[in-house]
Amino acid sequence: MTRKTAAITAIGGFVPEFVLTNDALAQMVETSDEWITTRTGIKERRLLKPMSLGTSYMAIAAAKELIQKKNLNPIDIDLVIVCTATPDMPVSSTAAFVATEIGASNAFGYDLQGACSGFLFGMSAAAAHISSGRYHKVLLIGADTMSSIIDYSDRTTCVIFGDGAGAVLFEPNDEGLGLQDEVLRVDGKGRDYLNVKAGGAIQPASIHTINNKAHFLHQEGKSVFKFAVSNMTAAATQLLEQNNLSTYDIDYVVAHQANKRILDSIAKNLDLTSKQMLINIERYGNTTAATLPLLLWDYENKLKKNQKLLFTAFGGGFTWGATYLTWAYNS
Ligand code: COA
Repeated sequence: MTRKTAAITAIGGFVPEFVLTNDALAQMVETSDEWITTRTGIKERRLLKPMSLGTSYMAIAAAKELIQKKNLNPIDIDLVIVCTATPDMPVSSTAAFVATEIGASNAFGYDLQGACSGFLFGMSAAAAHISSGRYHKVLLIGADTMSSIIDYSDRTTCVIFGDGAGAVLFEPNDEGLGLQDEVLRVDGKGRDYLNVKAGGAIQPASIHTINNKAHFLHQEGKSVFKFAVSNMTAAATQLLEQNNLSTYDIDYVVAHQANKRILDSIAKNLDLTSKQMLINIERYGNTTAATLPLLLWDYENKLKKNQKLLFTAFGGGFTWGATYLTWAYNS
């Protein structure tokens, strides 16, 4: 008997029009196109203008593209999950606003904060909701307005991040295709290395937090780099082992786009070829929860039914993991 799995059946995406090139950044901070390109692989990133449009603006645009491509009636959507580290507001649910704006009037929804692993954790949640048998169409969105928490006078962070959103639809699959297995982890000790210190319960907004630039993203880049490489490698290795797979069996790796050198190190550790690695970091930078769905959006035409995909991500918290998914359709 075939098992009912949760498969991705449609993709949408959105990146803002405004392009911030490395040369433009070099006018703002002491850096150069050469340094950014060789140290990160990034050439340009997109920024939401005006920023006050909010993360929901990009999430809605990505969702609407998916709805139109799939010819989906939004009233059939059961659940909207918005994975984001930069919600429109700290309290009001961004997912609720998105669901209403796209006409998903029969859905419930929630925000999921897993930083750069948000979409990976969201895939787990979406698949579990489908497997419960109670939900049949789950819209999973990864969206972040990183420009809203970046200090554009701090060259160690501002060169890396960009804004964007990607959306996928999860539906039940009768052929056993879709999400197969996952290894997901967290380590709370990591919060010293990658964080926004203020604006939460520990340090509510005050004149001091503003003067100390504590509402901006802080990272200890070198340490984060090492943790990212070792933890994504370990999660992917465990996942492959427990599914009796070798890296040669994998058609594509959908890895969080944080730094091209991180991707190269993972590929080397896992013995992956450059053909297996899906990469678009040069155009968008690190869009946090949006990198994985934006990869699917960019490479949708390459993906074929039954292909084996290995997802992996790492982010603030720390959060990380790897997910094995088989592709369910030809576009
Ligand atoms: N332009 C020019 N020089 C820069 C620079 C920039 N944008 N940013 C840092 N530098 C300088 C540093 O000041 C340092 O100078 P010094 O040697 O005179 O002190 C030098 O470059 C090396 O700095 P270092 O931090 O060791 O560089 P790095 O090779 O580790 O690259 C990152 C920095 C941030 C690109 C890299 O550590 C990284 O990508 N880390 C992971 C970040 C990440 O993935 N975050 C999100 C996680 S999901």
